Amino acid sequence: MAHSELNRSPTESTALLLRLQSAACREIGSPLYGDLLARAADDLLAGGPVAEVLAGHLHTRPAGVLALRMLGGAHALALSGRAPELAAWYPSAGGIIDTAPGSLHAWAALKQTLAEQRDAIRPWLDWPPQTNEVGRAAALIGGLLNVTAQAGLPIRLVEVGASAGLNLRADLFCVPGDTSSYGDPDSPVVLSHAWQGGVPPDARVEVIERIGGDLAAIDPASADGRLTLTAYVWPDQRDRLARLRGALAVAERVPADLRTESATRTVTSIELLPGTWTVLWHSIFRQYLDEAQRAELAGGVAALGQAATTKARFAYLYLEQSRSGGCPVVLTTWPGGRRQVLGTASPHGIPVHWNVRS
Ligand SMILES: C[S@@+](CC[C@H](N)C(=O)[O-])C[C@H]1O[C@@H](n2cnc3c(N)ncnc32)[C@H](O)[C@@H]1O
Repeated sequence: MAHSELNRSPTESTALLLRLQSAACREIGSPLYGDLLARAADDLLAGGPVAEVLAGHLHTRPAGVLALRMLGGAHALALSGRAPELAAWYPSAGGIIDTAPGSLHAWAALKQTLAEQRDAIRPWLDWPPQTNEVGRAAALIGGLLNVTAQAGLPIRLVEVGASAGLNLRADLFCVPGDTSSYGDPDSPVVLSHAWQGGVPPDARVEVIERIGGDLAAIDPASADGRLTLTAYVWPDQRDRLARLRGALAVAERVPADLRTESATRTVTSIELLPGTWTVLWHSIFRQYLDEAQRAELAGGVAALGQAATTKARFAYLYLEQSRSGGCPVVLTTWPGGRRQVLGTASPHGIPVHWNVRS
């Protein structure tokens, strides 16, 4: 550890984390959070409302994304009408984006909300952000097309770390494209500009069962569940919000079996069925597992692979962050255990750059 890092106080370390998150938000499409978090870092160092809200949570490890927990709590208040002063500057809550250079309106509103509603926001610091990113379905759909191109059987879709299970309805979303497209253009979820490079095979996808498991499953049909999911989308990211709202509408009419349970439990409880593909899928989830849990997942996948036959087939498909950057989309199918890297996606799924098929 560098000397300067050793000398940093918990307040200074946390302010640095807020600045790093500010830069990350700016880079992945939220200038609003980029600006608010830079100002929040200054406010923390000055002992303002941010310091009051974060008291007792300073120096949390970077992976804890403390900044996003705090902003998620404030966003929920804006969305639910309990912080109208903040809603006025959040497009997600009907407000406007203040584009005047150096404007302090949004920051002044956030500061007021943090100061006046500290007790409502602090509980949000206790749990990690629950993002169910619908854009990742762009990779899942491409994977399912590759699966059914191998054998045209109906699919039982199983997702571990499914959050609210929105992507268990991926087959009902639409991916429009110039050279290849998928789905009904009237779907409430249209994933524009989602596919680049080589295109997935032209095949038919029929999903006959939807099973999801998550340690902290969110009910997408409940008002609380919807508010939680929306609160973790950044308020100026209109495309992500539109995708989420569309997927919530699909979830309302298409049921899924969503269970509150560990990935190990989900994987060990499924059995392959004759006349079907069982497709096990996960996205941006593996990083939350410790070594033992990873080994259990790998063991469960291997056991299902071994049980697969040409009649009862098994596929393992994932989109996960790699150490070298980017998120490969990887498909392995059984019998046979053929492993393919189908392409690479952004962490929010769009765009997916598909490898050219050989
Ligand atoms: C970043 S979210 C991704 C959610 C979803 N896969 C997506 O891409 O939108 C990670 C999810 O993994 C869940 N999770 C973490 N550890 C888990 C475990 N051992 N078993 C099941 N779910 C877990 C969390 O509760 C969270 O919902």
